[in-house]
Amino acid sequence: MRIVNSIVTMQRLARQWRRAGRGIGFVPTMGFLHAGHLSLVRRARQAAGKNGVVVMSIYVNPTQFGPKEDFSKYPRDLKRDFKLCRQVGVDVVFTPGDKEMYPRWGAAADEPALARQSVAAAREDAHPTNFSTYVVEESLSHTMEGASRPTHFRGVTTVVAKLFNIVLPDVAVFGAKDWQQAAVIQRMVADLNFPVKIIVAPIRRERDGLAMSSRNKYLAGDLRRQAVVLWRSIQTARATVNKSAKPVPAARLKADLKKFIEREPAARLDYVEFFEPDTLMPVTGVRRGTHLALAVFIGKTRLIDNAPL
Ligand code: PAJ
Repeated sequence: MRIVNSIVTMQRLARQWRRAGRGIGFVPTMGFLHAGHLSLVRRARQAAGKNGVVVMSIYVNPTQFGPKEDFSKYPRDLKRDFKLCRQVGVDVVFTPGDKEMYPRWGAAADEPALARQSVAAAREDAHPTNFSTYVVEESLSHTMEGASRPTHFRGVTTVVAKLFNIVLPDVAVFGAKDWQQAAVIQRMVADLNFPVKIIVAPIRRERDGLAMSSRNKYLAGDLRRQAVVLWRSIQTARATVNKSAKPVPAARLKADLKKFIEREPAARLDYVEFFEPDTLMPVTGVRRGTHLALAVFIGKTRLIDNAPL
């Protein structure tokens, strides 16, 4: 397995593979890997074909974190990640530094446009990237995660576009865990004609139903038990919809789930939404096939989950 930190080296490798007719499967991550991430690698391997190669990127991307979020605390353990990547047969791990991805990182705003922009930038940019070219998806990004985390998707689409230009993948695999993220990326790829096929792979869960997440590491003691309330509220919503012959009013179901969730002492609902799975269009009547997504604070840790009902 090769570890690459440099963009130029990564691009050179990718171009060699392409010339040799080898398929490139790509799994972008922020590291602190778990079985969910590793399942994406297996899917990428399958999709890349017999002669194919699999690249995983590990990069905690500052531009998708808000000013009050956990960018600096986000769990990191590259040594362990490399070991897992080796075990699951990743060919190349691309793990750039901040200055590699955002070359003007930390510099004074030395360009006129950036200087002029600096007030707005300081307000919006949680981190000193001095970056000035973004990819912004304007339709699917405003609800749910986008409403709670206003600059989040701009950071995601921008870094994923950069990574696609660096890794030059034929296929890229994303997890259904971040349902809205997958939808936003699919829209970006369609709108900007990126020559890459997007695959969305199923959510991997712990035994008790908690969706695997790097942030589960934050859940000490009883918080870990309380975190299962996200999965249990999905089950509850499913049961309600299955019992009802008519569509269930979304407002009522939201209120019921909020009560259900906040019975756990450390749980606070951020949002729960019911929507059409492909368009993310909110529905007023919830039926089988409607998609549910929710975000819940368990103590200070914000967890998300989603499922079809
Ligand atoms: P990260 O949270 O590390 O997730 C990387 C990929 O793993 C995403 O596609 C995510 O949906 C998937 N994933 C996470 N938990 C999963 C689970 N339990 N089962 C299946 N897949 C799971 O998502 C990001 O990083 C970043 O936003 C990124 C796309 C890398 C851009 O910075």
